[in-house]
Amino acid sequence: MTTDLDAYWMPFTANRQFKKAPRLLSKASGMHFWTPEGREVLDGIAGLWCVNAGHARPKIVEAIRAQALELDFAPPFNMAHPKAFELAERLVELTPAGLNKVFYTNSGSESVDTALKMALAYHRVRGEGSRTRLIGRERGYHGVNFGGISVGGMVANRKMFGSLLTGVDHIRHTHDPVRNAFSIGQPQHGAELADDLERLVALHDASTIAAVIVEPVAGSTGVLLPPQGYLERLRAICDKHGILLIFDEVITGFGRTGAPFAAQRFGVTPDLMTVAKGLTNGCVPMGAVFAKQHVHDVFMNGPEHLIEFFHGYTYSGHPLACAAALGTLDTYAEEGLLTRAAEMEAYFADALHSLKGLPHVIDIRNIGLVGGIELAPIDGAPGKRAFDIFLECWERGVLIRTTGDTVALSPPLIIAKTHVDQIVGTLSDALKRAG
Ligand SMILES: Cc1ncc(COP(=O)(O)O)c(C=O)c1O
Repeated sequence: MTTDLDAYWMPFTANRQFKKAPRLLSKASGMHFWTPEGREVLDGIAGLWCVNAGHARPKIVEAIRAQALELDFAPPFNMAHPKAFELAERLVELTPAGLNKVFYTNSGSESVDTALKMALAYHRVRGEGSRTRLIGRERGYHGVNFGGISVGGMVANRKMFGSLLTGVDHIRHTHDPVRNAFSIGQPQHGAELADDLERLVALHDASTIAAVIVEPVAGSTGVLLPPQGYLERLRAICDKHGILLIFDEVITGFGRTGAPFAAQRFGVTPDLMTVAKGLTNGCVPMGAVFAKQHVHDVFMNGPEHLIEFFHGYTYSGHPLACAAALGTLDTYAEEGLLTRAAEMEAYFADALHSLKGLPHVIDIRNIGLVGGIELAPIDGAPGKRAFDIFLECWERGVLIRTTGDTVALSPPLIIAKTHVDQIVGTLSDALKRAG
């Protein structure tokens, strides 16, 4: 049991608050965590949007154990191990048509920076080196590396870190509570917000723009759904101007929206797609970028002994990560988890929307097994209302997550109806108490 909490500088955490009243987790199985004291906590957020098959799944645990015994590491540059290829073949059976090349990373942030670099290099090797501008979206979250925070649109993640990447611009976000509050699934209004890309094309000229990156469903900024027709329109504008479209599917990938990828759920295929989290069920850090064949093929030029893309990580395609990912894909397949969110969506939506009318609830948003409950902020203390609800739910045995004043739910895809009832019932009690 940890005794001294001093040395660890915790990520994305209110360190002083935490260390006064630590929230420790020491065991997990299925839908639950346990604290060191043995208190059971229902996981309403799949760890951190990643433990999609639930915790401590035997196939994954066993795959990691066996791999550690057999091959602990193999250099990924100019060398490889068989499971890296096996996994890539398995993955491209699941991806939307055409996204059939896989580049490995170790996290969502690395996947994003990898995709941005691929987009820039793609245009350059095609002889359109003037396309250097990257376009993100306000309120976007694309991890914490410099590329990701540059195209990202959450001010707290950007303002401390200098001038970021140059040549970046942002389209408007899609959150429109005036027209879309309490929508079930995709909101009706706002497809025209995609036309904001035309505004940036008019301002910068398409010949300077390499790529646009968006989350199909924005998670970390508070669960913002794409309005009906929005992603289709963004795709069409990118095609018209030769701009690559990147979907950041770090949280939507691997079943979260009811299809293997949100691209399939929404019927819009990007040129590049970033994933992480659910790729290994959160067990071993791993990310990946999926590229369209034509993006990859442009690089396959020049003398054959030369490296085509000067990018990669020591741990790209790490044997333990590949083994964990293969065990994860087996578990997803055996239990039908990549489409289970679609089966649970209606029940989950009904339960969430039953919170309408409770104190401070100003909007509820949902798709697949993702839910956002937006609360009115306390005057002068943004984020506090939701954080207090988070603490209250923790005390009552349910782990939720908050971002700003939005409660974000993303439970493991193995969730049963009774778990949905427990999460929503606990939230309801906490909201009533706070009111
Ligand atoms: C859409 C999106 N992109 C990128 C990331 C960053 O992933 P990581 O924390 O693994 O670097 C996240 C993490 O939540 C995310 O939600």
